[in-house]
Amino acid sequence: MKVVAFNCSARKDGNTAVLIERVLDELRAEGIETEHVQLAGERIQGCTACMKCAEHKDGLCYGRKDFGNECIIKMHDADGIIIGSPVYFADITPEAKALIDRAGYVAGHKKEMLYRKVGAGVIAVRRAGAVHALDSINHLFLIRQMVIAGSSYWNLGIGREKGEVARDEEGMRTMENLGKNMAWLLGKLGA
Ligand SMILES: Cc1cc2nc3c(=O)[nH]c(=O)nc-3n(C[C@H](O)[C@H](O)[C@H](O)COP(=O)(O)O)c2cc1C
Repeated sequence: MKVVAFNCSARKDGNTAVLIERVLDELRAEGIETEHVQLAGERIQGCTACMKCAEHKDGLCYGRKDFGNECIIKMHDADGIIIGSPVYFADITPEAKALIDRAGYVAGHKKEMLYRKVGAGVIAVRRAGAVHALDSINHLFLIRQMVIAGSSYWNLGIGREKGEVARDEEGMRTMENLGKNMAWLLGKLGA
């Protein structure tokens, strides 16, 4: 059983990374394999609307040998998918949106890529916009018939400077419970 987490912050090892790691800790404690992919420093472009994924139906952005396709392949191989993003202007980052648009469109023509897999969004925020950003991630999970794991609060942690989010006790507890619930759900679904 494997969960892959995509950290779509432009800042490596920042607050989103801290939150994601807290979720992954709980998954690892339950014997679930995890991978944390940080998009910072990588190049990911959005969907070009070429529509070739609809033609070829191979679950990839046809002919694009890039980091976006590497992420899509990791989604194929996972039972659970976490998409983490800091809030940028009350929404997710452009990297998160590019990943969602590409993975979501490709999976529309390759049902088993995401169907009934477990999904969770994770948001780092300084002050405002986290629930909206979480909704943006859930749009992908819901339209591709994934099962969303919840927690004891909406999946967000508060902090501005790198690492500050670790001091948000409730946010960290929310991540702990999210990891526990995700592990439980994966077990129930027999992934
Ligand atoms: C371009 C940009 C836009 C941001 N917009 C918001 C915002 O709308 N609301 C907010 O609360 N924080 C905003 N922030 C702050 C980040 O969400 C916050 O610092 C977060 O913890 C960063 O996570 P990271 O360390 O994983 O990058 C913004 C930061 C940047 C760089």
